[in-house]
Amino acid sequence: MAIRKIFTNDAPCLRKVARPVKNFDAHLATLLDDMKETMYKAEGVGLAAPQIGVLKRVCVIDCRDDIGYIELVNPRIVAYSGEQEGPEGCLSFPGRRGWVVRPNSVIVRGFDRFGNEVEYKGNELFARAVFHETDHLDGKVYIDIATEIPDSYEEDEV
Ligand code: NI
Repeated sequence: MAIRKIFTNDAPCLRKVARPVKNFDAHLATLLDDMKETMYKAEGVGLAAPQIGVLKRVCVIDCRDDIGYIELVNPRIVAYSGEQEGPEGCLSFPGRRGWVVRPNSVIVRGFDRFGNEVEYKGNELFARAVFHETDHLDGKVYIDIATEIPDSYEEDEV
């Protein structure tokens, strides 16, 4: 496994639409292993392949919740509901935070590294992370939809 460079700010790879994975091979497994290690090293709750300059529809998430660490290849959101608003950040925009409205619940389907279909359901931070990471696969970043964090909001953790 290896720590990969996380591209930031104006890097063109953050604005490109990623391509679906066709081969569930050793190359994909290495990519996922590296993304996992890179996400934990950076203390993020998610990482999408375009953030490390790989334009494939792959992301990893770990919200330190009951769902735990997951890998999503070619993810697609099949249902969502409700609404949440709260602070959001991104490893590709270090030092910044913004206020983002997202659905509160999500069901996402995709594939694991072996090509088996997987489905995950979750709320709150998990739903926020799924929308944030799948946006990355379409070249969308949260700062485009974020507003200022209200003065009335006190963050208890960064
Ligand atoms: Ni991000």
